[in-house]
Amino acid sequence: MRRKRDIIISGFSKLLKEEKLKLVAEYFENPGEVVSLLKSFWHTDERQQKLFDEFSENTITNFYIPYGIAPNVMINERTYLVPMVIEESSVVAAASAASKFWSERGGYHSEIISTKKVGQVHFSWSGPESRLRAMMPEIRTVLVEAVKPITANMEKRGGGILDIELISLTHEIEDYYQLMVTFETKDSMGANFINSVLEEFGQTLRQYMAGQLHLPEQQQQLEIIMAILSNYTPECVVKTWVECPFSRLDQIDETLDGEAFARKFEKAVRIAHVDIYRATTHNKGIYNGIDAVAIATGNDFRAIEAAGHAYASRNGRYQSLSRVEIEGDIFRFILEVPMALGTVGGLTSLHPLAKQSLELLGNPSATELMMIASAMGLANNFSAVKSLTTKGIQAGHMKMHLFNILNHFKANDEEKTAAAEHFKDQKVSFASVGQYIASLRK
Ligand code: MEV
Repeated sequence: MRRKRDIIISGFSKLLKEEKLKLVAEYFENPGEVVSLLKSFWHTDERQQKLFDEFSENTITNFYIPYGIAPNVMINERTYLVPMVIEESSVVAAASAASKFWSERGGYHSEIISTKKVGQVHFSWSGPESRLRAMMPEIRTVLVEAVKPITANMEKRGGGILDIELISLTHEIEDYYQLMVTFETKDSMGANFINSVLEEFGQTLRQYMAGQLHLPEQQQQLEIIMAILSNYTPECVVKTWVECPFSRLDQIDETLDGEAFARKFEKAVRIAHVDIYRATTHNKGIYNGIDAVAIATGNDFRAIEAAGHAYASRNGRYQSLSRVEIEGDIFRFILEVPMALGTVGGLTSLHPLAKQSLELLGNPSATELMMIASAMGLANNFSAVKSLTTKGIQAGHMKMHLFNILNHFKANDEEKTAAAEHFKDQKVSFASVGQYIASLRK
């Protein structure tokens, strides 16, 4: 009998994987088939499967996402084959096409603006702010000393704590302060390092205050509310751009010469600076490219996106992350994004494909990977805005989507080959592909 959906399950995490799978399958009409389907995505090598299971909790199978390659990605005169993991059909094609196009026009140029990361200890204290400020030099010394066992390794790699600043937000929330801590984490994303340091800071700060016996009793109590890194990294930023004279844009569209294309493109990007509806979609297109590289290299794409969208609002209004500059007859398309990436630690060395991706990229440093991922963001943004301002997005998008539609109609290989030929110069839509397949099957 099919399981009722409104029953609370207790102890799910304690079940064996097979038991979890069976239990889940009972929610379907055809439990046997569901078990077989989900098991068909298990890795054939048990050791590998165990590794995947241990990445997360309550795992019952694996969810596949295609792993593709964008070739010809020339950045600062070095050429890469960039691995991209993404389910959206047009993203790798867009990255590849844009990269080929720009490789013939000097490639991507990229520079790191800064690499600082931040974390905060949020706390309450009821004494006068001036007293706390006066104690800060000593507090800093005590805190830094307390975390020496945690920071020693990072310091050997050239990273560590850069600054500890006291911030008062008592005008917003009564008695509320922060320690705003700045870090350099070199090639690691640094989340665990930062959070360990911050939690130790929190405990040390509370104990330090408790030991200030000359203070009124109430002021000896300092409440740590929480200690956590911030995913907002406005000082961990990469700038990547492409540029060429108008004349090198002449062939893009039959109806627009290079200058007309550049000016129309520039206007489209400007729209994403003044209109939040367009800005959101525009930036989503950028993250199509960035996320795909982040996932392929085992990086935390949620953190990267969160930082980017917050950064897009840094002027008090959500805006495009990319911009166009036109100087004389030079068209320049620039993307500036915050990006906290790692190339050591975390999933980067544990996930076998993340490791492979990094090797394919020549085992880059975190800053080099920032350049690569941002180039793929710029590439996707360029391709999207180019299509939008010329032939429209659907022509290319639907062509790429053709195989998804064919799979929906369960087309066999012969039908797929015939359809690919037929739709070379026909408009692709769900209906038109359906009709075509029906006509083949008549
Ligand atoms: C689709 O995933 C992304 C686009 O909508 C981006 C854009 O509109 O700029 C094509």
